[in-house]
Amino acid sequence: MVIRMYEFDAIKVFREDHREVRDGLLELADALELKNVEKAGKILEKLNNLLGPHFRFEEEALYPTLRRFLGEYVDTLLKEHDGAISAARELAELIKRGQISDEDAKKAANKTRALLVHVSNCDGLAILTERLDEEEIKELNEKFQRIKEERVPLLDWAERIRKKESS
Ligand SMILES: [Fe+2]
Repeated sequence: MVIRMYEFDAIKVFREDHREVRDGLLELADALELKNVEKAGKILEKLNNLLGPHFRFEEEALYPTLRRFLGEYVDTLLKEHDGAISAARELAELIKRGQISDEDAKKAANKTRALLVHVSNCDGLAILTERLDEEEIKELNEKFQRIKEERVPLLDWAERIRKKESS
């Protein structure tokens, strides 16, 4: 009998992340609308920690691997990341202020909900990963596991590590 060691399944984790991000964004939008700044801050921090390794895996490993199927569409995905990063930055600034006007709260909630489209686009990539080679999958597993272990939050990664930002 062969006893298999636990293997990190990048695509499974990638999809679980999306569910968590989806729920986090919905909760964040509600908290912003209710002007519950403390709650919004906590959710944003959770998302910041989750999305750092997630975006990093996508940009350093997954998107380049999928370029052979997707071509230039990968650039659209990267642009969507640019938008998500600047939205996260703006939200962090807004929340830091501690007080939000009704208008800003509404705008921030709408901006947060607008990010759901990327979550859904990104999750759709899972179907393409089913056509990758075993070697490619192995590499994705190793890379995502290493990136997860490094735990660099989104805004930190964007500031220090992410090379290209087109907007
Ligand atoms: Fe994603």
